[in-house]
Amino acid sequence: MEIKKVRKAVIPAAGYGTRFLPATKATPKEMLPIVDKPTIQYIVEEALESGVEEILLITGHSKRAIEDHFDSSPALEMELERKHKNDLLQLVRETADINIHYIRQKKMLGLGDAILCAKSFIGNEPFAVLLGDDVVYNPERSALRQLIDIYERYEGTVLGCQIVPEDKVSSYGIVAGNPVGDTGLLKVRNMIEKPEPEDAPSRMAVLGRYIIEPDIFEILEQTKPGIGNEIQLTDALFELAKHKDVYAFAFEGKRYDVGNKLGFLQATVEYALRRSDIGPNFMEYLKEVIKGNGRLDKI
Ligand code: G1P
Repeated sequence: MEIKKVRKAVIPAAGYGTRFLPATKATPKEMLPIVDKPTIQYIVEEALESGVEEILLITGHSKRAIEDHFDSSPALEMELERKHKNDLLQLVRETADINIHYIRQKKMLGLGDAILCAKSFIGNEPFAVLLGDDVVYNPERSALRQLIDIYERYEGTVLGCQIVPEDKVSSYGIVAGNPVGDTGLLKVRNMIEKPEPEDAPSRMAVLGRYIIEPDIFEILEQTKPGIGNEIQLTDALFELAKHKDVYAFAFEGKRYDVGNKLGFLQATVEYALRRSDIGPNFMEYLKEVIKGNGRLDKI
């Protein structure tokens, strides 16, 4: 039997973003920019670069700005055309060319419930999930592409993971598994959502990238609320692992947790430093800050 291609991706973007209030009171957290591009666009671009053809965004209340962002903008385009700002015009048009589908999660019942909203869009094929709080930098091969390669080779659900410090395990889904030969891949035998460090089966955390077999939907329909009284994707994946192969794969790339303020600032600084237009000047500025030993009156 020929292996099914991963053609579709689901990006949940329904959360309130309370950690970034007041910025997120009227603006979706996914629209907060890293330098000059909304975080959601980094995620969408990763999906497209990885070969995904169709994207479904799971949105919720007050998320219309995301739909507007990926829509055409005739007045702005006319203005840029009139002023001969051709580079910006191209940028605006390219963003609008991305074809995205939208569905709303009506109640905030958890990540598992958000993924279940994608059931009819996905149908009976494997699909990718990318979480907007995890931005991964890998200019050679995106994190999602690495997962798709593993999926195509092993034909099972793949969870994108990295090792996290012990004091951070309670923020993530943590997996433990048995090594598959000497590939570095693990076949999952245990999974716990946000365990206390003493209960964590390892320090291997699932970091916002998944390739999932469609069997997950039937399981999600039966999944009861777990930790935080939310329907947890992790619980459903653990159930799936009891019947089918689920792999944990340590992807390569620098991952930023843009769901918290420090991670967001780190991403902002490092993405800015990588830019050829502002990177060198920004580096000079940072050196000045450091010379003043963090004392702002010395800058
Ligand atoms: C979600 C998942 C968790 C995963 C994390 C990655 O948690 O439930 O398993 O490790 O994303 O960022 P959240 O951060 O949405 O609470």
